[in-house]
Amino acid sequence: LACGWLGKGRLAEPAEIVDAALAVLRRKRSLEGECVLVTAGPTVEDIDPVRFVSNRSTGRMGYRLAEAARDRGARVILVSGPTALPPPAGLELVSVRSAQDMAASVSARLAEASIVAMAAAVSDYRPASASPTKVKKTEGSISVEMVRTPDILKGVGTEKGGRFAIGFAAETDGVLQNARKKRIEKNVDLLVANDVTRQGAGFAGETNAAVLIDAQGEADLPLMSKRELAERIWDRVEQLRRPLPEDETNEANVR
Ligand code: C5P
Repeated sequence: LACGWLGKGRLAEPAEIVDAALAVLRRKRSLEGECVLVTAGPTVEDIDPVRFVSNRSTGRMGYRLAEAARDRGARVILVSGPTALPPPAGLELVSVRSAQDMAASVSARLAEASIVAMAAAVSDYRPASASPTKVKKTEGSISVEMVRTPDILKGVGTEKGGRFAIGFAAETDGVLQNARKKRIEKNVDLLVANDVTRQGAGFAGETNAAVLIDAQGEADLPLMSKRELAERIWDRVEQLRRPLPEDETNEANVR
């Protein structure tokens, strides 16, 4: 390094460099005045003090979405399940563990938000009760009773009032049909659907491919970095929230 320090170094991933450069170039402050509530990461449901049930979410999609909103000038509240990602600068990070914790934090902060983006992979089930002590092994098999967790996004969809809600659908089959249904059932304004079995898309990694589904149309986006996908999502949100002159729709804007 210029200061004379020698050692093994590592260049940032090219996709990260491109994203950082793009972020500087397109800093448009178009979400100035908005408060964006983002959920990210997995939730962790304890079985006992050393065992838990969770999923493969790394939190990357939600973090990139939160960072992109911050760079467009929004105040951002990021409610995150446990992840290995560094806390992003310039936004409020609320760390949670279980689906119930996440539901409580979202409900406590919803009033402040004008836009909500639920990118977390929330566990649908949790053990009915967590043992306070480590479960001892015995000869036979055991079973753990699993009960439903609150559907946070559905709750937001019911109580959102004038807020703009974004949902995510990670699917392994019937991606489009399930996602279209989910958008209506959860009462969200924009649904981001992705096939998690597709190479380079889904949970791990810095890339994703998704279909954006809203009331005006659908846009099938190619494989791109999660930061770029985040930018495309915010572009679409901004289009949909912009008041339209009479007898015009946003349909022409769907790519
Ligand atoms: O129903 P499904 O889990 O496929 O829906 C995915 C969407 O719903 C995501 O936006 C996710 O963050 C949200 N979700 C939630 N609470 C749950 C389950 C999913 O907010 N318990």
